[in-house]
Amino acid sequence: MSTISEVKKRRTFAVISHPDAGKTTLTEKLLLYSGAIQIAGAVKSNKIKRTATSDFLEIEKQRGISVTTSVLSFAYHGYKMNLLDTPGHKDFAEDTYRTLTAVDSVILVIDCVKGVEEQTEKLMQVCRMRNTPVIIFINKMDREGRDPIELLDELESKLSIHVRPLTFPLGMGSRFRGVYDIYQNTFSFYRSGKTKVEEEKQIFKGLSDPGLDKTFGADAEKLRHDVELMDGIYENFSREKYRTGRLAPVFFGSALNNFGVKELLDTFIDIAPAPGDRQHTGGIVKPGDNRFSGFVFKIHANLNPKHRDRIAFLRVCSGKFVRNTFYHHVRLNRKLKFANPASFMAQSKSLLEEAYPGDVIGLYDSGIFTIGDTLTEGESFMFKNIPRFSPEVFRVVQNRDPFKSKQMQKGIQYLTDEGLAQLFTQDSGNRKVVGVVGELQFDVLKYRLLNEYGARVDFLPMSAFKAFWLKYEAPAEIDYLLDVYPGSLYTDKNDNPVFIASTQFAYQSAMEKCPKAGFLTTVEHNEQTLTLENVA
Ligand code: G4P
Repeated sequence: MSTISEVKKRRTFAVISHPDAGKTTLTEKLLLYSGAIQIAGAVKSNKIKRTATSDFLEIEKQRGISVTTSVLSFAYHGYKMNLLDTPGHKDFAEDTYRTLTAVDSVILVIDCVKGVEEQTEKLMQVCRMRNTPVIIFINKMDREGRDPIELLDELESKLSIHVRPLTFPLGMGSRFRGVYDIYQNTFSFYRSGKTKVEEEKQIFKGLSDPGLDKTFGADAEKLRHDVELMDGIYENFSREKYRTGRLAPVFFGSALNNFGVKELLDTFIDIAPAPGDRQHTGGIVKPGDNRFSGFVFKIHANLNPKHRDRIAFLRVCSGKFVRNTFYHHVRLNRKLKFANPASFMAQSKSLLEEAYPGDVIGLYDSGIFTIGDTLTEGESFMFKNIPRFSPEVFRVVQNRDPFKSKQMQKGIQYLTDEGLAQLFTQDSGNRKVVGVVGELQFDVLKYRLLNEYGARVDFLPMSAFKAFWLKYEAPAEIDYLLDVYPGSLYTDKNDNPVFIASTQFAYQSAMEKCPKAGFLTTVEHNEQTLTLENVA
């Protein structure tokens, strides 16, 4: 089959949410509908979460939170679905942000009781950076939640995106009767229960159908009123606006009760985009191009704790990847071939012979990959739009065992290559600072440094507001920063200069004094700006 017809069959996406909104439950139900797993509701959602193949790390089992991102591929109605799972805990959000660079669309889960939460907003900001198409699933309709119209308003105002409900609920909590499909004029009846896969539906001839009154009695008027209101307030659904990230269709349901999930999935395969064009340093590649290319968006270490092997997750962007074929590792300028690339089906990993755009390949990695690395058939471009974000918490690394300093350095370098944390080295000394998105990452780092590298470290508190990558035209401004804030200039893994402002005030005054410098809170993973040596 040609690459283009393979591309058309692919849907590569992520399910994202604020923790506890129901991402794991919905993911399981999607797998259930596809037949990829047969838990049929007998298993409580978290059981899968806690024993899923994504839970590679011991620490993850201990904490019962999903630290890692894994890939779940499954077939549905002739489509190949590549679902990139993301960690639920906000402290591992960086992992989620990176994964979002590798998907073509997302399903965002909202808890109808809580509405838009902190992490929902952050995740949507990342989606908007790339105009990623978003479908919203308002979950837990079996609970007494917020008024649906109020929720839709909140989605628009807090997430800065237009929404268009495609279904609308009748009642909620104990009075939840089901959802009306606004475009198909069908009503799906809600019955609580976790085993049911097919929903009971009734077809109506539009809102004036007297069958509505027969079926719902007094509630029919409410349904008519609400649906007419929706049609009045919200613009019609437009595939084009959805695909350019400007309009998010909204569904209501209950993942736990298998309700509304099938509509979501069926609409998803109909409207969600197949793999599209990708930008690189020399232009764009089209997925249908003959020549293979792809980039690494995640590195996962130590699937087997006895070996220090890692798996680099590569998203195919164009052409066809074939096992045992030489490809060009652009950053290292090396030819490499892969004898054991892995593909991921719902719960197992298997040897992969070939892969197409949208697919994710697991490549065994002996330490040659970092996030953002590009493989091609010889071209020397690097994929763009794989950002690193300024960390939110900083600690100074202190080695507790001087005889193990080499192990510590190696460990930190490997773990930062994985994107678990970012390392900043002080320009005027040896001080090493690790920045992460959430405190828990320090526990993971400490645990892994000890268990995998035999290195004992402490992470000492430091007062830091934020890290800014510096982009500038006037080197004198950097000299100024070096003079005024001598301890605040660092370099990152690519030798880019970074200003770690101790307070917001320090940041603001540095900006005022250095008007020509750019203080950036995101950079490309492989971006090299100017090094401090170049400036001196
Ligand atoms: P997450 O991955 O987004 O963090 O959320 P997860 O699916 O783990 O769901 C969080 C909690 O919400 C779970 O309850 C889950 O059962 C519940 N939940 C998910 N969907 C629905 C729904 O449609 N209705 C209701 N009422 N609850 C839902 P838990 O008590 O934390 O775990 P468990 O003991 O039930 O497994």
